[in-house]
Amino acid sequence: MSWSPASWRDFPIKQQPVYEDCARLEAVEKELRRVPPLIFAGEARNLKADLARVGRGEAFIIQGGDCAESFAAFNADTIKNLFKLILQMSVVITYSAGKPVVKIGRVAGQFAKPRSSDYEERDGVKLPSYRGDIINDIAFTEEARRPDPDRMLRAYYQSAATMNLLRAFSRGGLADLNKVHQWNLDFIKDHPLGKRYEELSCQIDKAMKFLAAAGITSQNAPQLRQTVVYTSHEALLLNYEEALTRVDSLTGEWYNTSAHMLWIGDRTRDVEGAHVEYFRGIRNPIGCKVGPSMEADELIRLIEALNPENEEGRLNLIVRMGASKISELYPPLLRAVKEAGKNVVWTIDPMHGNVEKTATGLKTRDFDNILSEVRQFFRIHHEEGTIPGGIHLEMTGEDVTECTGSVACPITEEKLQDRYHTQCDPRLNAKQALELAFMIAEGEF
Ligand code: PEP
Ligand code: CO
Repeated sequence: MSWSPASWRDFPIKQQPVYEDCARLEAVEKELRRVPPLIFAGEARNLKADLARVGRGEAFIIQGGDCAESFAAFNADTIKNLFKLILQMSVVITYSAGKPVVKIGRVAGQFAKPRSSDYEERDGVKLPSYRGDIINDIAFTEEARRPDPDRMLRAYYQSAATMNLLRAFSRGGLADLNKVHQWNLDFIKDHPLGKRYEELSCQIDKAMKFLAAAGITSQNAPQLRQTVVYTSHEALLLNYEEALTRVDSLTGEWYNTSAHMLWIGDRTRDVEGAHVEYFRGIRNPIGCKVGPSMEADELIRLIEALNPENEEGRLNLIVRMGASKISELYPPLLRAVKEAGKNVVWTIDPMHGNVEKTATGLKTRDFDNILSEVRQFFRIHHEEGTIPGGIHLEMTGEDVTECTGSVACPITEEKLQDRYHTQCDPRLNAKQALELAFMIAEGEF
């Protein structure tokens, strides 16, 4: 079966925009085919090696960021706060579990959204659904909702600028373990969670002083002064992904260079469909969402299509069943994969199976359901003797009010309106995400 970056075009595809201006679409694709890659294939291989470690139980994944990045909310502070939050959560887990954390942002490219309906209706007016800023605009007008190919270019340049800042933070000093205090976000500092983090930072300070006395400092040990935050997004809009798929000059293999890791959404994971066709040919580490409708034999076929060589670290299955379903639906899948001897990394996305609507029509998720799904995920792995690889979260370093609940930060349904900023699905705010990290670190699951 021959493969090319464009071979997906011969397969049935879901969740795509219909562009009216085909000439403009082609011109944009042509331009995107010559822009510089956003990542280097060697970095994707490093991530694959990291994921292989996760699969062996030697590391833990934190993957997190916006449901959908937006053009309007693009600014340095948001990126910096997400970066700090990922570092805070990682240090909390590493310090107590003694395992390195593989840090992956849903960032620098997370722009395209699958939707449950092609149309949205308001007060008798029916318009095409919003599909993410890379495709159309969220405003509810006919003009705004028309898919515009030029948005792909804007998404690319925004991703490049975001990536640039993440690389600067990772290498330029902000990630130095001597700066753990500075990762504490301003609005958390005076909160009990912030204080708890502060205590942990003081212990790390002591350890750093001890290391320095033994001659190991951030000047002579680069692993103390820098980190790696990988990027990832759902590769939904294949016109964009195809254009950024390049041959790696070192190995002669195809890599998607728009992010280190790409994943297939739960709505586009048909074994016979265009997305699986595209993904099977790229050599990056990849993810695939596993929702409640997945059958065991279908999952095995999917794994064989996506990872025919059973390579370690290649495939991350991102489970998103929902708190009320995971205990029933997950164990049979886990057992089938184990019995088939497939190498996969399992992580839990406790967000997408737990969406509910408030009386006023706002989408939310309750923190208790999120914790419950994570808890059940860990318990199931414990019972099956398999490795729980990590968590996949929609979260932000900002002080938003989008998900209800949490002990440290009780958000009631009435309060959701205060700072409900998401472009799409409700995210954990920084306190909620940090609370979850502390619970994982303390083995409460
Ligand atoms: C997402 O991760 O934003 C998403 C749409 O997830 P899923 O494909 O699992 O519904
Ligand atoms: Co989402």
